[in-house]
Amino acid sequence: MRDYCSFKALAARRRKRRKVLLRSLYLFAAIMYTALTISGCGNDNGQIGDFRYRSDMADQPSFHKHEDPLPPVKGTVPVAGKELAISDSLAATRVANPVERTPANADSSKFLYETYCTPCHGLSAKGDGLVAAKFQRPPDLTTQKYRTTPDGYFYYVIRNGRLIMPSYYESIKSRERWLIVNHLRTLQDK
Ligand code: HEC
Repeated sequence: MRDYCSFKALAARRRKRRKVLLRSLYLFAAIMYTALTISGCGNDNGQIGDFRYRSDMADQPSFHKHEDPLPPVKGTVPVAGKELAISDSLAATRVANPVERTPANADSSKFLYETYCTPCHGLSAKGDGLVAAKFQRPPDLTTQKYRTTPDGYFYYVIRNGRLIMPSYYESIKSRERWLIVNHLRTLQDK
């Protein structure tokens, strides 16, 4: 009986000790949480103050936002050929269009033109896009002046922009620029 009683007392003491331990753990967690929250917002690398709570994902060789892509490995050869280095718009006028205007690629040309140029230049390149009304009206690209403008010049304008027209260097690839030029020619033929 005595043994049994002392066993009960022992168990009760253990329970109490566990309760105290758990309570201090909760308290510690609450203090840490409050301290981390108050000490300021974490940055994009998952860092709160000097305390890193998930450094495993942040330290990796992938690109970070707005970071330049890594240069290709030395000796890498571009599969689709290298883009011509065109120094200025005059030099551009001498570059021949390597993409032939065919019925097979007409749809791609139209799609690209309508995606990137229509907002300002309008569906028929007359300069009556929806944005033009609120921005600045671009010139009518179907006039005689632009009919006789060489393909390379259009290519150059798409690549580098012009005055307030933005450059599409990053969003439109070289071949796509030529396809867009072809669609401009189609619109001029209408
Ligand atoms: C955000 C509106 C906007 C978009 C989108 C835009 N342009 Fe323009 N573009 C302009 C404006 C404005 C001008 C007149 C620029 C100037 O000379 O001030 C212009 C001028 C031009 C010119 C005449 C350049 C010259 O020297 O006379 C060409 C060609 C041209 N754009 C082609 C394009 C093509 C092709 C696209 C699609 C890839 C495109 N633009 C997309 C606004 C735009």
